[in-house]
Amino acid sequence: MKLLMFKDYINSSLEETKKLAQLITERISNGSILLLNGDLGSGKTQFVRFIAEHLEVLDIVTSPSFLILNKYSTEKNVDMFHFDFYRVKNIQELEDLGFFEIIESNEGIVLIEWADLYRNLFDGKEKRIIDIYFNFIEDNINQREIVVKGNI
Ligand SMILES: Nc1ncnc2c1ncn2[C@@H]1O[C@H](COP(=O)(O)OP(=O)(O)O)[C@@H](O)[C@H]1O
Ligand SMILES: [Mg+2]
Repeated sequence: MKLLMFKDYINSSLEETKKLAQLITERISNGSILLLNGDLGSGKTQFVRFIAEHLEVLDIVTSPSFLILNKYSTEKNVDMFHFDFYRVKNIQELEDLGFFEIIESNEGIVLIEWADLYRNLFDGKEKRIIDIYFNFIEDNINQREIVVKGNI
């Protein structure tokens, strides 16, 4: 993507993170899978909120940590599936939630916090995947280093 042409990361304030989410929202569509990784508090859920805002999700986006999956409809004619793998104990749990149907259907935009905990689930889906890594920056609580990798 243009913004990241010269380097694959940016140091991002909250406002810039919102803009980055907008750029990415403009480049995704049904079937896109966004894998969000980074430590607790690094900004994964915040990023999902920004994407939700740009997709014009009407509900308030909450962290799905306890529920593992939240589903939202949007004003932009796509559904948004928000997973958090942090508390997923085994693949069966994901199966029961319909994860595989959602992934195979190629419908909706799928965002997954802590996706790398079950990375192999995405083997063979590279074309649909955008990896986003969130890192803390030393001595700056208001910025994050954000790395974006993928087909955008
Ligand atoms: N530059 C930034 N980008 C994203 N989040 C930021 C940034 N600066 C501060 N924050 C704040 O950091 C917190 C990240 O929390 P959250 O998104 O819940 O993290 P995670 O889901 O990764 O555990 C939010 O309160 C958010 O407002
Ligand atoms: Mg979170």
